[in-house]
Amino acid sequence: MLEPFEVLFEADLPAYAVPDELSRLYGRLGFADRVVYSNFVSSLDGVVALGSGFSAGSVISGKFEPDRFLMALLRACADAVVIGAGTMRATPGHLWTPAHVYPDLASSFSALRETLGRALQPRLVVLTAEGDLDVNHPAVQKGATILTTQQGAERIGGRQPASCDVVILGRGRQFKIARAFDELETRGFRVILTEGGPHLIGELIANHLLDEAFLTLSPVIAGRGKTRRLGMVEGVDLLPLVPVWSRLVSVRRQLDYLFLRYALPPA
Ligand SMILES: NC(=O)c1ccc[n+]([C@@H]2O[C@H](COP(=O)([O-])OP(=O)(O)OC[C@H]3O[C@@H](n4cnc5c(N)ncnc54)[C@H](OP(=O)(O)O)[C@@H]3O)[C@@H](O)[C@H]2O)c1
Repeated sequence: MLEPFEVLFEADLPAYAVPDELSRLYGRLGFADRVVYSNFVSSLDGVVALGSGFSAGSVISGKFEPDRFLMALLRACADAVVIGAGTMRATPGHLWTPAHVYPDLASSFSALRETLGRALQPRLVVLTAEGDLDVNHPAVQKGATILTTQQGAERIGGRQPASCDVVILGRGRQFKIARAFDELETRGFRVILTEGGPHLIGELIANHLLDEAFLTLSPVIAGRGKTRRLGMVEGVDLLPLVPVWSRLVSVRRQLDYLFLRYALPPA
């Protein structure tokens, strides 16, 4: 039985009308009308990915029930969940829906979505330049918007199910990340969760497109040996020339885990 989160600090933040069962557990939660927010779980030593063959989030959190609850709650607030193809390739059986990670409270998450005027499920949006996607992945089969390049679309070759749409946003090695978010805006997606991974988050931060970052700090120490293990932001150097100072806006605790929420500086 999940216990309520201990709220250690909370800034003055927007508050949705959250169903009782969810607010009893988490407390207040809300977002600006237009927002992009990320959610990661990190080991104490800053590792968020363990290489191929591991569902890194589950391993790093130890499938900690409150972390799964928060993942579900953040998904339940969003119009769309955006991921890079690297995350999809690393997570073969996953569905990016609230109920997939916390089925016990599926009806409360649905009630929240209804209150907020959201669709039944957040739309999954997958970014890929290469088009190296398994069209039989259950999340693709359930329906996704695939943002890609001309070459990526050719590689997908129309094999996607009818529940998917494929949108070409560029011709080269990759498209400008801002184009992806302009496309989502034209589709009416304004409250957007990104579940990464680190290369996508790096691009978002470098382009001032990430407004908030949720970070679960797991008490586990992952270590780094010969294989490369990613941190939350990859593919871009920020410090020392481009420091991004964020502001702590919420801290919650469950046992040895911290649940942090940061606001990133506006562009
Ligand atoms: N601990 C956590 O909370 C957490 C959360 C999320 C992910 N992860 C882990 O992170 C790892 C994956 O991270 P990652 O950084 O390699 O993957 P990622 O950021 O999810 O995906 C990177 C890929 O996204 C596509 N992409 C990104 N920007 C693009 C653009 N502007 N235009 C076109 N395509 C674009 C490209 O796909 P193509 O290569 O297909 O062109 C790129 O290689 C996995 O191990 C996963 O388990 C951990």
